[in-house]
Amino acid sequence: MAEQAGAERSGKDRAHDASAIDVDRLTEPQAQAELDRLAAALDAADRAYHQDDAPVMPDAEYDALKRRNAAIEARFPALKRADSPSERVGAAPADGFAKVTHTVRMMSLSNAFDDAEIAEFDTRIRRYLGLDADAPLAYTAEPKIDGLSLSLRYEDGKLVQAATRGDGSVGENVTENARTIDDIPDRLTGAPAIIEVRGEVYMSRADFEALNARQAAAGQKTFANPRNAAAGSLRQLDATITKSRPLRFFAYSWGELSDPLADTQMGAIGRLETLGFQTNPLTERCDGPAQMLAQYRKIEAQRATLGYDIDGVVYKVDDLSYQERLGFRSTTPRWAIAHKFPAELAWTRLEAIDIQVGRTGALSPVARLTPVTVGGVVVSNATLHNEDYIAGRDANGQPIRDGKDIRVGDWVQVYRAGDVIPKLADVDLSKRPEDAVPYAFPTTCPECGSDAIREEGDAVHRCTGGLICPAQAVEKLKHFVSRAAFDIEGLGSKLVEEFYADGWIAEPADIFTLRDRYGSGLQQLKNREGWGEKSANNLFEAIEGKRKIPLQRLLFALGIRHLGEVAAATLARHFGTWEALTTAVDGAAAEPAFAATDAKARKAALPDSPHWAEITGIDGIGDTLAEALVTTMSQEAERASIDRLAAMLEIEAAAAPQTSDSPVAGKTVVFTGSLEKMTRAEAKARAEALGAKVSGSVSAKTDLVVAGPGAGSKAKKAEELGIEMIDEDGWLALIGQA
Ligand code: IVH
Repeated sequence: MAEQAGAERSGKDRAHDASAIDVDRLTEPQAQAELDRLAAALDAADRAYHQDDAPVMPDAEYDALKRRNAAIEARFPALKRADSPSERVGAAPADGFAKVTHTVRMMSLSNAFDDAEIAEFDTRIRRYLGLDADAPLAYTAEPKIDGLSLSLRYEDGKLVQAATRGDGSVGENVTENARTIDDIPDRLTGAPAIIEVRGEVYMSRADFEALNARQAAAGQKTFANPRNAAAGSLRQLDATITKSRPLRFFAYSWGELSDPLADTQMGAIGRLETLGFQTNPLTERCDGPAQMLAQYRKIEAQRATLGYDIDGVVYKVDDLSYQERLGFRSTTPRWAIAHKFPAELAWTRLEAIDIQVGRTGALSPVARLTPVTVGGVVVSNATLHNEDYIAGRDANGQPIRDGKDIRVGDWVQVYRAGDVIPKLADVDLSKRPEDAVPYAFPTTCPECGSDAIREEGDAVHRCTGGLICPAQAVEKLKHFVSRAAFDIEGLGSKLVEEFYADGWIAEPADIFTLRDRYGSGLQQLKNREGWGEKSANNLFEAIEGKRKIPLQRLLFALGIRHLGEVAAATLARHFGTWEALTTAVDGAAAEPAFAATDAKARKAALPDSPHWAEITGIDGIGDTLAEALVTTMSQEAERASIDRLAAMLEIEAAAAPQTSDSPVAGKTVVFTGSLEKMTRAEAKARAEALGAKVSGSVSAKTDLVVAGPGAGSKAKKAEELGIEMIDEDGWLALIGQA
């Protein structure tokens, strides 16, 4: 922890500066000075965060200062200030506003960056809806406003709640702040009894400049861009501050509705306008990709003169009954896409190439750059992907950047597309230093020295050290405690690194024995800088709280290659329990299909490999994932580590499908033959939404086969096995959609 607080140290006065001294070596006067300094720094940070929404330090640094403060107070209790930062309440940023659970999730948008992706978007939608290439299909096109989204709930025409998006499910209640915005009506006439209007809060460029000028004149923090200014102004605990900030609002979407607004997106936007909302005047109905792209160019041409920031164009399927059929993926609608404007670019020097080792052993080269501002953000790192990318080749050996390789010392062009990690677009060969040499990709792991091997057909070098590689072990642990995995509060990446470095935890199972090993009397944990009895207890309680874990989270947490959240959920749904899953995986490990060395041999061995066939027969689980799963679980050391973990846990069987009252919940359904009223993808999505498992092959475990015209071997097999078979209309009647 002393190291983190040491981030404060500044060059030459390091030796005289108490901030550079470890807590247990501070003299009393130094401790007093340090407590004063920390109180001032934390106070400034709190104010910057809460009142100005312009954080002056990263959260990790803030936390480190708080811990250092607490550690000094623990050593010198008599020096504790009356206004000690450790007693301050409401300092935790997220605690400022009450939480609001959205009745209809607030979605984000998937992104497209070029024209071809828009054509693909149209093709994808037609395929899903079963529309021919020449069938009419209209879209809307409108600017993507660079602000923050807000959901406004009106009941009986009165604004009752305004909430930010938050994580999509839970946002912050900012009702009083929203009431101060002129574009947001307090009352609506002629609106549905319940209506949630959604749109973007933003600040015009002129208002942003003026606000910054006022802030600067008053000696207060200025904002980096209009978006930050809008976010900072809306998220004010004191609504009178929001009132003094010139915020605006464009309506473009909706959440819960007691009555539909219209039949089309365009009609609904018109209705929102009639109700008194501002809608974007550049919203246009388009008959297909050609018109959508024309509207994109038109909006792009006006971008500089609009007076507010936009970062792309959003296309939405116009027909709302199509939108309904298309539905949502986990976080984005299938019926909309954001076509982003090209990224901003800047030239800078490549100072070094570092190699990072990930949890699956992949070696990722990272460019260390002379810091440069790109689109308002200082960039000092960029991804270099892999060996071929640095050498100027793509995965197929074709030249990229006209075949120019990247060398340390080169002038490189950096860009940011959306919020993704910065990338390099180009190299300026005319500025290449004479002594620059081609980059030699390492063939050993920089962390553990094991061989780093690039397998045929793979773009990536992988460390072969497995569990002995400290980088892989730490990354695996970080993944294990991450949000979508075990999500252990208080045990973040930093602490995992420290615990690992100190030898406290080497593998996931060790997390669950921490209390037994270090918790007795809490002495050892309390001895760590910044830790007290309360924080230690909180951590142990958070860990205990996760001993009971849903199967899908455990599967995802294992960090097996290719096994993402979606696949983990699919496997959990199929197998239900950890025992059923391990039985299948262990069975598959001993079967000829797993031993097969190519796809053909694998297929031939399928009839003699029932477990392998079961795993790969699950819709959404391919051979690559099955192989990674079975390989990992059958490696002796890995498996022993997983078993040690499983023994610590109470693994919850996969949750019963949410729609347990649906007639197909929990049933395994196979669709075969052609469907006429819906596409295969749509049928599958609908069945899964109703709690059914959709499988690609018929087996004794199949409950129902939906057979359309042309059904062949699968229908025959179902007949042999005596499985219930219905046609498409029968299926629609069964799920109540006839
Ligand atoms: S529609 C379910 N339309 O972009 C559809 N979003 O990157 C939800 N945004 O969270 C969004 N302008 O905050 C939509 N014209 C527009 C938009 C827009 C800006 C924001 C919105 C969303 C984010 C996704």
